[in-house]
Amino acid sequence: MHISVITIFPELFTAFLSTSLIGRAVGTGDLDVSVHNLRDFADGKHQTVDDEPYGGGGGMVMKAPPWIQAVRVVANDAPSRCVLLSPQGRRLTDSGVRELAGAKERLILLCGRYEGIDERVRVAVVDDEISIGDFVLSGGELPAMVLIEALSRQVPGVVGQPQCVEQDSFRNGLLDYPHYTRPQVVEGVSVPDILVSGDHGAIRAWRGRQAIRATWEKRPDLLAQAALTEEQLEWLAEIECEGPGHPPDAVDLVTQREDKDNTKSPRE
Ligand SMILES: C[S@@+](CC[C@H](N)C(=O)[O-])C[C@H]1O[C@@H](n2cnc3c(N)ncnc32)[C@H](O)[C@@H]1O
Repeated sequence: MHISVITIFPELFTAFLSTSLIGRAVGTGDLDVSVHNLRDFADGKHQTVDDEPYGGGGGMVMKAPPWIQAVRVVANDAPSRCVLLSPQGRRLTDSGVRELAGAKERLILLCGRYEGIDERVRVAVVDDEISIGDFVLSGGELPAMVLIEALSRQVPGVVGQPQCVEQDSFRNGLLDYPHYTRPQVVEGVSVPDILVSGDHGAIRAWRGRQAIRATWEKRPDLLAQAALTEEQLEWLAEIECEGPGHPPDAVDLVTQREDKDNTKSPRE
């Protein structure tokens, strides 16, 4: 996957692109990311990239010519898709990430600052406008990193075990099941017995059911859209009867702990 970033703060990407899974993917060449300083495409001694807004009002606006020049130079006449990070763009989702990850062309990410970028840049060179959520940040660098990290997980080889990505939240329209690791008991709550049973079929079924439970409790809106199997529909009906709570086989331990806490004197 080929990605180019245009920003006035290229240094923000240094640690990001050299750390953890992304750092490894860049090292192996699975991920090819270049970062370009917008100022290199600005004219004049001061390489100014912003100016006062026409019509007045507060703040500064990023000038169009450096952006247009930067995008054309970075694209270098090869197929590319120019993505403006913007709170006004379409909201980033898992399916949007997968669609972008499938793009064969180079992705060019534009990171705005100040009040934003002169509207004529969008008209001249932008193919897509993406938001990471309905809130406003001071710049497009963090949204670009969010997008790069999400995209990188779709690149074969970046996440060591592909099944981890397959099981992630949203992949099948559901949230992921709960995870546990050592120690077996934490604050009186034990790992559900089934996970230490060694019965892989039962573990798979438990996890499938817990994914339905997590989605029902935290994001019921997703369930309305998910194409559930007969078995999943049965689990859902059972979960609706059980009501909200902890995974069933952790419930007893939590109750025990609460009982224990209730018997403590107030000073304990
Ligand atoms: C202060 S913001 C400009 C906001 C703009 N005045 C508005 O209200 O639509 C500066 C830059 O941060 C980036 N940005 C801020 N919030 C964002 C978000 N939720 N998603 C993606 N990019 C964002 C964009 O690149 C934007 O040009």
